[in-house]
Amino acid sequence: MSVTLDESQVIGEQKRSYVRDMFARIAPRYDLLNSLLSWRIHHYWRGVAAREARLRPGDIALDVCTGTADLALRLARQVGEQGKVIGVDFCLPMLQRGWQKVRQRGRQEQITLILADALQLPFASDTFHAVTVAFGIRNVADIRAAFAEMWRVLQPGGRVVCLEFSLPRLQPFRALYELYFYRLLPRIGALFSHGDAYLYLPTSVRYFPERERLAQIMQEVGFTEVQWRELTLGIVCIHSGVKP
Ligand SMILES: C[S@@+](CC[C@H](N)C(=O)[O-])C[C@H]1O[C@@H](n2cnc3c(N)ncnc32)[C@H](O)[C@@H]1O
Repeated sequence: MSVTLDESQVIGEQKRSYVRDMFARIAPRYDLLNSLLSWRIHHYWRGVAAREARLRPGDIALDVCTGTADLALRLARQVGEQGKVIGVDFCLPMLQRGWQKVRQRGRQEQITLILADALQLPFASDTFHAVTVAFGIRNVADIRAAFAEMWRVLQPGGRVVCLEFSLPRLQPFRALYELYFYRLLPRIGALFSHGDAYLYLPTSVRYFPERERLAQIMQEVGFTEVQWRELTLGIVCIHSGVKP
């Protein structure tokens, strides 16, 4: 069966409900698929992103689009027992999987998961020492508005860290990667999950702003010291910035 994806589901007004429903469907298999399709490298990527947040024991951190809470769990290690991590996501089944993991690892005292929209964060301004988002910003309907919300809830001096897929620039690696990402990955994903979910992944990466453009949006929102680093030959990028 061939599955197609309407452009409006990736960049248009249908995106919010499309994305939430899709993650609700794949939530039970999300962690397995992540490991399978990234060959487990995603653990390394999240580890680097967590360190970029430069949290200290006792800090309070927010992980936006937290999903099954992998990055929130890593942040919890950094803020220690006196610190707090809040994870926010608008998809309940993803948060439920996340909460199972939080409990299994005995982090219930440190981590709170909240059902909320990244575009309307239910927190006072100037609250967090760091705000992170991993593989989430590509999925929000308005990237600029999401960064503006992250900026608002950060304390002055706090850091934003954004881990997201990008496309490698070095040939011939790029050509090989495109073959994997656009041709093989959706087929492997479809075997384990609902047909269009892993068509959405490469399509959304194709529409996602280039590294330079993302940095520019962050600067326009008000972040300073904006920089990015590529990991794994540019398969993912970590952007960071500071609220002055
Ligand atoms: C690819 S998953 C990433 C989950 C997790 N951060 C990780 O690294 O595995 C994207 C998550 O973003 C969430 N999401 C997308 N748009 C959102 C929004 N506007 N508000 C809150 N969560 C959102 C989805 O529900 C989904 O759980």
